Amino acid sequence: MYSAQQLNRARQLAYLHSGIALSDNKDIMIGNRLDKLKRALQQENVDTVLTAIENGNHIEAFISAFTTNKTNFFREDFHFEDLWHRVAKQAIDEGKGLKVYSSAASTGEEPYSILMTLENSKHLFNAPYFNYSLLATDIDTNVLAHCGRGIYEWNKIEGDFPDWIKPSEYFMRRTHPEKNGEYLVKIKEALGRKVKFEQFNLMSNPYPFKSSEFDVIFCRNVLIYFNQDDQNSILKKLFTALRIGGTLYLGHSESPLTLAPYVERCGQNIFIKVKEFA
Ligand SMILES: C[S@@+](CC[C@H](N)C(=O)[O-])C[C@H]1O[C@@H](n2cnc3c(N)ncnc32)[C@H](O)[C@@H]1O
Repeated sequence: MYSAQQLNRARQLAYLHSGIALSDNKDIMIGNRLDKLKRALQQENVDTVLTAIENGNHIEAFISAFTTNKTNFFREDFHFEDLWHRVAKQAIDEGKGLKVYSSAASTGEEPYSILMTLENSKHLFNAPYFNYSLLATDIDTNVLAHCGRGIYEWNKIEGDFPDWIKPSEYFMRRTHPEKNGEYLVKIKEALGRKVKFEQFNLMSNPYPFKSSEFDVIFCRNVLIYFNQDDQNSILKKLFTALRIGGTLYLGHSESPLTLAPYVERCGQNIFIKVKEFA
């Protein structure tokens, strides 16, 4: 439906604005994303749309159309188990707090799962004064708006929670305004206030973080969208922001690549920083 030239223009724009590398076998996907973008911009002509993006217009809509936002609560739940069993426990035992960064927050399921896990650790280890902060970023402003609302369809998420989490402690129920007999749930305000959502492009250079700023970084299921050089460069910048002894969680098909000599693996895609990158 789209010409090779149109697909290539879209491919170049995706790389330019987000670092997302779309290989030659992704033509069908690019076509679907262009359809989505045309609908979002209420435009029929793809060349008009591509020219507008090339001229610096509608960049946010373009990024939203080209990002893949698939996520769920407690995805790869062993990461959250490690976060309370090991990381939160150690911090509480040492009387310290935690600074956590969720670097590809999507629609909020990952950062809110982190918050529930840390709140749960307070109850579990009888540590009501356990202090933590959470920064959650994404490049896509649409998903960040969803994060801010913190509203989810209960029937889509009810299967996501491990047995050690009681969703009713963290969500308020509302009747669904459009679907009879169904619920929406909204993150309780007190919990929502504990996370700061910001737009951030992982391809940025330099990063706005101090060195060793974070105790924990989640960078899951986003590196897969970048080429290997960019993955390495993103990992190095995140790594600089992670303190020695801090934990890096990666997605199921991601690896620390050139960071491998500087980390110790302590579980499935769980890495502890053991020394600075030289
Ligand atoms: C598949 S979701 C992963 C969400 C979550 N981390 C998880 O594992 O469930 C990938 C997210 O990465 C974001 N993303 C893509 N390119 C990005 C970039 N250059 N900088 C920051 N975020 C980006 C997308 O907007 C999307 O929300």
